[in-house]
Amino acid sequence: MEKDGKYIVYHGLLCPKETHSLDSLKYFEEFNVRDDDVIAITYPKSGTIWMQEILPLILNGGDLTPVHTIPNWDRVPWLEETRAALVLDNKPSPRAMVSHMPYHLMPPTFFSSKAKVIYVARNPKDVLVSSFYFHQMARFLDDPGTFEEFLDKFLAGQVLFGKWTDHVKSWRKNDLGDRILYVTYEEMVKDLRGALARFSKFLGRELTEQSLEQIVSHCTFNTMKTNDMSNFSLIPQDIMDNKKSAFLRKGIVGDWKNHLSPEQEVKFNTVIKQEMADSNIKFAWDE
Ligand code: A3P
Repeated sequence: MEKDGKYIVYHGLLCPKETHSLDSLKYFEEFNVRDDDVIAITYPKSGTIWMQEILPLILNGGDLTPVHTIPNWDRVPWLEETRAALVLDNKPSPRAMVSHMPYHLMPPTFFSSKAKVIYVARNPKDVLVSSFYFHQMARFLDDPGTFEEFLDKFLAGQVLFGKWTDHVKSWRKNDLGDRILYVTYEEMVKDLRGALARFSKFLGRELTEQSLEQIVSHCTFNTMKTNDMSNFSLIPQDIMDNKKSAFLRKGIVGDWKNHLSPEQEVKFNTVIKQEMADSNIKFAWDE
């Protein structure tokens, strides 16, 4: 592990120092995964805070108390971040957490446990756009530069948690069997109710129609945008400037069309296609 500017470089992956430390990464490596833990895995900007809202609601039968009283980073902590050690050890089961780590870096107890994983993937072009704005508002990250410059950095994997293609592929080649459920951000936008019903079945938490409806209405973009426990408005402006670009920015599918020129689209598609060629993963946005 080495430190570099605003980031810690962990197995070649950039992790912001604002939220990660050598201690937090050590805690991650030695983390004691419980059989009934639930972990949502995402490449950054693919719907992580959405899952931080959804999981406690499903695990608590639709009870809104946690999402109204606990900030998202303590409610469903990032396993590799500094808050994890403060929150997770004393949390009663079932615990929900999120992580941006690739499969092969997960802690040893994860592999021997029965913990369940929901992997959320998002169209990388929309991830790129979301990340570009995030770098403008999160003062603890490097300035993204121009969109063209940021696109090149993204394709080269010189961004948080490395290349999108490596992340997605790492979580497809695994031995988890029915311990893992794959969903896309796009599916969640299109049919949130359907996605929530799948999650609750997967987690063995059948919900009444009423609780399902309650969770759906709480997890819409507009409701979350006004939930101070989820919209990062509790973070001082000099760390995250929500006025520059809101963390809950647009919450839509296909915003990349407003940002990529035809030439940039070709460049982006060529690299992603080439790097995905050795996998049999098919996403709806490829068709
Ligand atoms: P945009 O920047 O495209 O709006 P992460 O939590 O992984 O950092 O991802 C952030 C992205 O997820 C942002 O995308 C954010 O708006 C979007 N998001 C968060 N909650 C959402 C919701 N309820 N519905 C749709 N998109 C949501």
